Amino acid sequence: MEKMIIQGGYRLVGEVSLSGAKNAALPLFAASLLVEDWITLRNVPALADIRTISRLLRMMGVKTEGESGTVRLSASGLHSFEAPYSMVKTMRASVLVLGPLVAKWKQARVSLPGGCAIGARPINLHLKGLEAMGAKVELKHGYVEASADRLKGAEIYFDISTVTGTENLMMAAALADGRTVLKNAAREPEVVELGQALKKMGAKIEGVGTDVVVIDGVEDLRPIEHTIIPDRIEAGTFMVAAGITQGNVKLLNCNLGHMEAVAAKLKEAGMEIYPEGDGVKVIGPVNIKPVDVKTLPYPGFPTDMQAQIMALMCLAGGLSVITETVFENRFMHVSEMRRMGADIRIEGKNAIVQGLAHLTGAPVMATDLRASASLVLAGLAAEGTTEVSRIYHLDRGYEKLDQKLTKLGAKIRRAQE
Ligand code: EPU
Repeated sequence: MEKMIIQGGYRLVGEVSLSGAKNAALPLFAASLLVEDWITLRNVPALADIRTISRLLRMMGVKTEGESGTVRLSASGLHSFEAPYSMVKTMRASVLVLGPLVAKWKQARVSLPGGCAIGARPINLHLKGLEAMGAKVELKHGYVEASADRLKGAEIYFDISTVTGTENLMMAAALADGRTVLKNAAREPEVVELGQALKKMGAKIEGVGTDVVVIDGVEDLRPIEHTIIPDRIEAGTFMVAAGITQGNVKLLNCNLGHMEAVAAKLKEAGMEIYPEGDGVKVIGPVNIKPVDVKTLPYPGFPTDMQAQIMALMCLAGGLSVITETVFENRFMHVSEMRRMGADIRIEGKNAIVQGLAHLTGAPVMATDLRASASLVLAGLAAEGTTEVSRIYHLDRGYEKLDQKLTKLGAKIRRAQE
C-alpha cells in the first residue's frame, strides 16, 4: 500500500487542468450495455474506479479499447449478465449495470452492495423502480436477480433523491415500452450528462435537470461519441487547496455553472473566484472566515465536498457548523483531523468546528475518497509533515492529485507504507 507524504506550508500558484468527471463517466460506461455497437467516450479520467467498471464490463463480454482519454466500448458480444460480489464490493457504482442489463438483455444478476464507510447506502429505490416497470426482482444468496421480457413505462416517485437510482431507471426506461415519469429525480450535472448522452443515442427524454424526468421508451438506441464533463468535485477540491494555502490558482477545463453552491460558500469564506479567460481564477484569503454549510442534493452544497470544506474551516477565524444530511456516517475524517490538532465536535448530523491559527502535521489514515482528499488539503496547510496512509482511496477518484499539486508548488510525494 502507498501513503502520501506532505510537507505543509507552501502556497499553491499556477494553472491546473481538471479531469473528466468520475461520476459522469461511470454511468456512461454502463450505458454502453444499451447498444450493440461501439460507443466512444472522450475525456475519460485515469482512475481506479474507471478501471474497475471496465473490468466488470469486460467480464460480461463487453469489448473495450483504451482505459482513459478516449475509450471505446462495444457490448455486441455480451455473454454474461452478472456483476459479482467481488466487483460490487470494490465499487458500489457497479449497480449501474442493473437497469441497462434488464432493459436491453432482459436479465441481470447483480450482487447487493453491503454497507459502506459513509453510510448504509441501500439500493431499495432502484429495485422498487424496476419492479414498478414490471421486472421480476428477487433477492437470492446476496444477489439481486431481475428479469423482464420488456420493461413497461411507469410512474415512479423517489422517496429520497438518488443519483445512481435516477441514472439506473433513466437507462432502463429508455428502452421500455411506453412512458416512464420519474418524480423527485436527482438533478446533479452527472444525471443531466447521462440524459444528454442517452438523447444522442436516440432516447426520448424530457426534463433532465429538473425533478420530473419523462422518458418515452424506444425500440433501439444507436452508438454515440461523447465527451465527458469536467469533474466539479475535483474542481472544488483544488479551490479549497488554493484557499487553504493563500494560493493563486487558475483552473482550466472548469465548469463554474456546476459549482454555484460551492463557489458561493468559498466566496463567503473570503475566497475570490471568478472566470478569467479560458479558466477560473481562485485566490485564497489571508484570513479565512467561518461559514456554516449544509449538504443537500444538487443544486445544494454537495456531500462530496463536505470533508474538504471542513479542512478549510479548521483554519477559519471562528466557529462554523457543518451539517451532513445526505449520508449518515460521513464524518470519518473528523477523528483524523483532530490528530492534526483540529478542534471539531460532532453532535448528531452537525460538526462544530472551532477554527484555529494552525494545524500540525501528523500521520493520519484515509477512510474513503473525499475524506482522503480533505486530509491531503489539511496537510498542505499544516505545520510540518503529514503522512496520509491508505491512499488507494484517493486514486479511486482523483487523477494524479499528487502530480497536479506538485506542479502548483506543493511538497508532496508517495512512498510505500
Ligand atoms: N438511498 C436510499 N435508497 C436508495 C438509494 C439511495 O436510501 O435506493 C439513500 C442513500 O443511502 C443516501 C441518499 O439516498 O443516504 C443519497 O444517495 P445516492 O443514491 O444519491 O448516492 P449514490 O448514487 O450511491 C452518488 C455518487 C456519490 C455521491 C452521492 C450523493 C456516483 C457513482 N456516486 O452516489 O459519490 O456522494 O451520489 O451525491 O455517482 C464520491 O464520488 O465520493 C461519491 C460517494
